[in-house]
Order: sequence, then C-alpha cells, then structure tokens
Amino acid sequence: MSEDKKVLDLEQRKQKIFCGGGTKAIEKQKAMGKLTARERIIALLDKDTFQEYDIFVKHDNIDFGMQDKDLPGDGVIIGTGTICGSPVAVFAQDFTVAGGSLGFMHARKITKIMDYALNMRIPLIGINDSGGARIQEGVNALAGYGEIFFRNTLSSGVIPQISVILGPCAGGAVYSPALTDFVFVVENISKMFITGPAVIKTVLGEEISDEELGGARVHAEQTGNAHFFAHSEDECFEQIRTLISMLPANNAQKAEKVAPAEPLPQYKIEDVVPADPAQPYDVRDVIKSIVDDSEFMEVMELFAANIVVGFARINGETVGFVANQPLVLAGVLDCDSSDKAARFIRFCDAFNIPIITLEDLPGYLPGIDQEHAGVIRHGAKMLYAYSESTVAKITIIMRKAYGGGYIAMGSRHLRSDFVFAWPQAEIAVMGAEGAANIIFRKEIMEAEDPKEMRRLKIQEYREKFANPYVAASKGYIDAVIAPAETRKFIVDALKVAASKYSGRPKKKHGLPPF
Ligand code: HXC
Repeated sequence: MSEDKKVLDLEQRKQKIFCGGGTKAIEKQKAMGKLTARERIIALLDKDTFQEYDIFVKHDNIDFGMQDKDLPGDGVIIGTGTICGSPVAVFAQDFTVAGGSLGFMHARKITKIMDYALNMRIPLIGINDSGGARIQEGVNALAGYGEIFFRNTLSSGVIPQISVILGPCAGGAVYSPALTDFVFVVENISKMFITGPAVIKTVLGEEISDEELGGARVHAEQTGNAHFFAHSEDECFEQIRTLISMLPANNAQKAEKVAPAEPLPQYKIEDVVPADPAQPYDVRDVIKSIVDDSEFMEVMELFAANIVVGFARINGETVGFVANQPLVLAGVLDCDSSDKAARFIRFCDAFNIPIITLEDLPGYLPGIDQEHAGVIRHGAKMLYAYSESTVAKITIIMRKAYGGGYIAMGSRHLRSDFVFAWPQAEIAVMGAEGAANIIFRKEIMEAEDPKEMRRLKIQEYREKFANPYVAASKGYIDAVIAPAETRKFIVDALKVAASKYSGRPKKKHGLPPF
C-alpha cells in the first residue's frame, strides 16, 4: 500500500470508530437532549486542542455472544487538550456503545488517562454516561471500578478531579465521582443512584422515577453529592471552564493570576450589611463587594444554603470564601453546612488557595434533630479542617460571632493568620438575651419589675461583650476595621501571607471525624 493509501486507510478506520454506536443509538442519545461523547469533549475543550488516544482499543470478551460485538473504542473516549490554555486530561463514556458500560478494556482506557493526569500533574475531567459494570464481563468489570477508585484516592489532593454526570451513573459506578473533588450535574440528564428504580420496585415494591430517586436536583439540593447544577450541557461545560481557570494544575502550584478588568468591585460594602443586627442580608453581596470584578463562583449553591462557599479572585489571586448566610436559618452552623464547609476548606488547603472567612452567625442550630443527626461529629469536621489547613487564612467578623460559631468560623484559636472585626461585631458566648436569662435569672425573678430588670441586664451584657473590643484587648483579633476597609485589609494580608511558612508535627495522616 502506498503512503497516501495508508493515510487514507487510517482516516477510514478512524471515521468508522467516530460513528460510535451507530445512527440509531446516536438519534436516541440526541432525543434525550444529550450530546455524543465526542461532541461533549469538543464543546468542553479549547478549539482544536483535543488529542485522542487509544482509538483502536478493542474489548476481548468472548462470553454471552460478545465475540461478535464490535464496540468502537470500547465505549469510552480518552485524551488530552486544554481549557483556557491549560492542559487537562479527559475521558467521556459513550452511551451509544453498549450503554457506555464499563468492561475490562474500557476501564483500562480510563485508568490510563488517570495515570497520565497524575504523572503530568494536570486536572482530570471524567464525563460519566454509563449503564455501569458491563454485565457480560462479570468480575473483570468490577475489577475495573476498583482500579479507578484506587487512582481517584491516589490523585486526591494532588490534582483537581472533576466528574460530570451526563446520563446514568448507577450502582458502584457512583463512587468514582463521589471520590472526586467536584461533581457537575445537568437538569433532566444526570441520574445517580446505587440501586435503581427497578431494584427498588422488586425489593421494596415502591414505584419511583429515576429523576425523583437521583436526578440532578436531588443531588444538588438534598444529598450534597453534586457541587454544580446546570440547565444544559453547554452551561455545564462553561461552568467547568470557569472553575478550571481558577484552579492550579496541581498541589505544587498556585492558580494563575488574572488581572481584574476593573480596578475596584462594582458593589459597595457599606450598602450591603444593615446596621440592625436582626436584619438579614445576602452575604454573597458582601463577597461581590470585596472581590475582583464582583465575580463569585459559588460551590454547592443549592445545598446547605446557610453557608456560602466558593471561589473568587482578589488582586488577580484565586481565593476561597467561607461565609455564613444570614438569609438562611440566620446563618447557623448545622450538620450539612459543617460538612460542606469542611470539605471546601480542605480542597483550598490542598491546592494552595487562601481561605477568607466572613463571619456572622448566632452559633450552632439547637434541637433534637441536629443532635441526633450527629451535629457533634459533623461540626467537628469543620474545626478539624480549619485547624489542619496551613494556607493563608483571613477572617472577618462582621456582626455576630457567638459561642461555638465564633471558634469554628476560622478563629485565631484555630490558627487564622489575620482576624479583623467590624465595629458592629458582637463576640460573646451567646446572644445578650439568652445570656441575661441564664446568668441574671435570680435578679430578674426577684426584681419588682422583672421585665425592666431583664431589659437592663440584657443591656449590661451587650455593653460588656456585644462589641469587638474585649476580643481586641486580648489580641484575639488583629484590628477593628471599618467595613469599607475590608478589601484593602484582605489585599494587604494576602501580600504578607504570600511567603507563609507553617510547620506541623510529622504523622502518617490525621484522623478527621469522617
Ligand atoms: C451491558 C448494558 C448495560 C450494562 C446498558 N447496556 N447497561 N450492557 N452492561 N450494565 C446496554 C443495553 O443492553 C443496550 O444494549 C444499551 O446498553 C442501551 O441500554 P438501554 O437499556 O436500551 O438504554 P435505556 O433504556 O436508556 O436504559 C439505560 C439504563 C439501563 C437505565 C442504564 O440500560 C439499565 O438499567 N442498565 C443496567 C444498569 C445496571 O444495573 N448496571 C449494573 C450496576 S451494578 P443494546 O445492544 O440493546 O443497544 C454496577 C456494579 C459496579 O455497576 C460495582 C463497582 C464497585
């Protein structure tokens, strides 16, 4: 064969594989509002940057008639490309080929690209769209999952790992995304569950739709498995591109600096927070009044909304925000918000992203539900995450900082490097009303006018503690600052912390309260 013919032959072989599972299967995929696996990768990556590997890999299963089945690419596409100019490794399961099911060679392709990602120290993005373990391959398929889970764990904290759920992700297959750092879901397309509707009907006799069981909203709002929710695949890819642009490629680097378009944020902090401590406000507006171009990428927006976490830039540098949200449950800490914050803090710490904490909370949510749901165990995760983290930590106490909440929200005592408080900050064991009821109970009961006595005692307690100056007198906070000075103090603190050194005792690993 001449050289030209060999090149033509290569092209024809590739074109055959690019047809995936064939016209009918692709039509079915499109009818569900889904792109094909290759289209997804092209939409996600920078134009013309995708390099595909292992196109010609074939499965070698001969059981259950599989020897006659030609499965193009064995149902998964792997390769590398760039996002905003930065290299990433990617795989996408092709549902049009045997339902994207995971057989031995399919898993080998995924583990190969995972190894590339880890060795090259670049982010890994996995697009999941699969019926799970390829049933005809038995234990070989299960072994494939085990190899993937092991690599997810090995890569954890070394490179960012992103999972995108764009179809079914059923059975044990869900655990690879669960081991990664960020899970993206799309309304009406993503489905994640351990046991599907058919099994539930058989075992429990209950009818449930796959959407109700494990649709995108379920995971974004209720289970906390998903970190980003989109209405379409295109929106989802845009979210991933934004996120990648804010992260470093690995744990030995810092995220690339990006100069802001405007010198100062568009929002004014003084206009956001009401003077009356009982008045709620949206803490995201405070964040937008501090960060470059007022742009904030919120993580887990729909889950445990009483705490807000996410990424932004300050003076071009990526930072992570952890902020109480007074709009939801007055910003209290509970099981879910502690979990959410702890995981985010650990991600920032692993990838050299400074953490900025905005504090305004009345404490932990009281009640039997929380106690029985394990608020002690979950709340401890947050204490652990803040104490363990060695990146630069800056805390701003805006209004309330009561009790356990004061300690948990990045206090000096958990080694925040800079703690600033606004003049209206209230730092106390609890709110003045509750405190007066307990410590002045006798005086109030025995007073001629108990109501007036209570009012006086509340005032007395508030004057003593409902300010930042007692904490400032002990050096627990570094400076009392006007709200308008917040961005400047953070900018200066980030400069000082750029060369931060933080030693910790040697150990194999700690034991966070998982
Ligand atoms: C082999 C599979 C498959 C699988 C789907 N297919 N799942 N082949 N192994 N796990 C094939 C179908 O036979 C069909 O082939 C094609 O993919 C498309 O599937 P359909 O059923 O026609 O598609 P749809 O109606 O959209 O239903 C999608 C589905 C359903 C809901 C995902 O296919 C399904 O329930 N699959 C099985 C899910 C499951 O139980 N997986 C095992 C989970 S246990 P043809 O040739 O007809 O086009 C597991 C253990 C992992 O994963 C443990 C790790 C620790």
